[in-house]
Amino acid sequence: MTIPSAPTPLPAPLADRDVVIIGGGSGIGLEVARRAVASGARVVIGGRSAGKLEEAAKSLGEQVRWGVVDTTDQDSLAAFFDSIDRIDHLFTPAASYQVGPMRELTDSEAESPFVSKFWGQYHAVKHATAKLTSHASVVLMSGAASVRPPAAAPAYVACNAAIEGLGRGLAVELAPVRVNVVSPGTIDGNLWAQRPAHIRQASFAQYERDALLRRPGTESEIADAVLFLFTNTFMTGSTLYPDGGYALR
Ligand SMILES: NC(=O)c1ccc[n+]([C@@H]2O[C@H](COP(=O)([O-])OP(=O)(O)OC[C@H]3O[C@@H](n4cnc5c(N)ncnc54)[C@H](OP(=O)(O)O)[C@@H]3O)[C@@H](O)[C@H]2O)c1
Repeated sequence: MTIPSAPTPLPAPLADRDVVIIGGGSGIGLEVARRAVASGARVVIGGRSAGKLEEAAKSLGEQVRWGVVDTTDQDSLAAFFDSIDRIDHLFTPAASYQVGPMRELTDSEAESPFVSKFWGQYHAVKHATAKLTSHASVVLMSGAASVRPPAAAPAYVACNAAIEGLGRGLAVELAPVRVNVVSPGTIDGNLWAQRPAHIRQASFAQYERDALLRRPGTESEIADAVLFLFTNTFMTGSTLYPDGGYALR
């Protein structure tokens, strides 16, 4: 009887690729960093807290470097990208903002999603462009509230819709560099773990009622979607909704 030989392992999809993740010190960005390393990439993670980045990089191994950067400060973005030679894949989930009804938020709270999440990503891509290789890809972070507002938060909803438009606009301007957007539903991960338990539980319960798959997603499920957008060479100008069918109902 002949013993079948073991199948030849597939090549690592990101071998010899340079990946930059701003917002890579926690949550979805950290999970994308973990998968990129497992897929063979060299990774740079950025964020505002050195301690958090150092700890994250240590947990990920020697393929990972880190740098402090604040996406709301263009001098900080310029210095961060100065220290990077080339970028094959860029992911920009970094953001911090307030969400709420127009009639309750101050103007600066209402503007904070645009300041941090929209302009933060716009300026991050602008400062990265000189380092993007001709076959590079960029993935912007949005959120499925763009197409189905979960509660009264009009500026946040509009910000996500604007990011999805930005992805299409940048795909046209930067081609052949590919630009796509990931727009997750509610995710049971680091961001919600920081919020008060009663708010988190109420939001998750609401999401279980609203989404076809009756549960929030995981950071790992969103990282899968980002890796797909990094590596599928025919994807550009698209928004992917890993949301358990939330936007449909
Ligand atoms: N989790 C969800 O349910 C969900 C759903 C839809 C969309 N999203 C979007 O996903 C993104 C990230 O969410 P996450 O779940 O991964 O949360 P997270 O763990 O809070 O990740 C955000 C990361 O960005 C960094 N950051 C924040 N502001 C920054 C700035 N101005 N400059 C540089 N780094 C900054 C934070 O680190 P420092 O504070 O140290 O800078 C943090 O590591 C957000 O844009 C959010 O709107 C999340």
